[in-house]
Amino acid sequence: IPESPLGSTNATIPVIGFGTASWPLGGSETMKQSIVQAIELGYRHFDTAAVYQSEHCLGEAIAQALHLGLIKSRKDLFITSKLWCSDAHANRVLPAVQNTLRRLGLDYLDLYLIHWPVSLKSAGYDVTYSKEDLVAMDFKSVWAAMEECQRLGLSRNIGVSNFSCKKLEQLLLTSKIPPAVNQVEMSPLWQQAKLREFCHRNAIHITAYSPLGARGTVWGTNQVLDCAVLKEIAEAKGKTVAQVCLRWTYEQGVSLLVKSFNKERMKENIGIFDWKLSHEDCQKIEQIPQERACSGREFISEDGPFTSFEELWDGEI
Ligand code: A2P
Repeated sequence: IPESPLGSTNATIPVIGFGTASWPLGGSETMKQSIVQAIELGYRHFDTAAVYQSEHCLGEAIAQALHLGLIKSRKDLFITSKLWCSDAHANRVLPAVQNTLRRLGLDYLDLYLIHWPVSLKSAGYDVTYSKEDLVAMDFKSVWAAMEECQRLGLSRNIGVSNFSCKKLEQLLLTSKIPPAVNQVEMSPLWQQAKLREFCHRNAIHITAYSPLGARGTVWGTNQVLDCAVLKEIAEAKGKTVAQVCLRWTYEQGVSLLVKSFNKERMKENIGIFDWKLSHEDCQKIEQIPQERACSGREFISEDGPFTSFEELWDGEI
């Protein structure tokens, strides 16, 4: 799996990462064995978050892979985790990253991200929080605490997730270390042209999540894998629709996260480096009507801080 430069840093990021956001599989033995299998197949980048409940099992899988000799050292891997909204307060960031490292059994992360541009008053990682607990995030002080995590060596790189151009602009106004990454939804059905252009200009690397449309989740959709344009291209190329999605995403210069708990599909999803899409294929894909799968509706509340999708995504909807 090739690597891509990470923002304006000297670091690189493997262009395909393995996702571990899964309900109800988060933290299960099945997930742990899938991660070990993924390492065996050549995946080196793993994406977790405090709220996924998968940090502990990712840590166990890494220990097992080291024990089995599938990798030589921790340094062979690229590990991303995320600060949950309940920890997105200046004084809770350091304890949060320390707890994440403890659950992973690691002494540093490669990348630590602010999960969403919003804070929660309540503590803990229960996703069924009360909407009254949603509060505006103080970007300046939370980001300063993220910078401190990097200075202390707890994470090699820091970044954000689910940030619009406008929110990135706001963060850049006061940041000393610019975010290396913005991890956002991106697929042929949600191409993010405007955000990609903004991030490119500001040397912020994009990681695409849900490149297959997050089929099988509560927010996800089958529309990506069922898309007629993609099916036609896949058939003509002798590839699967999933491979066409992943190849298109990779060709846009971003890294991507994909997850499958099925060994054949895990192999299929990394089989995208010895062929490419034609100019005509890409033109057809660019014309696919756009629709976001992950709307973030759980962050919209009558009492704010975001009272509409418009406010959450700043019109990038
Ligand atoms: P499975 O674990 O049964 O393979 P996303 O990465 O967009 O969130 O999508 C993940 C979903 O897509 C999972 O439900 C996964 O199911 C499925 N999936 C992953 N790879 C493929 C593939 N190559 N073909 C079809 N479905 C896939």
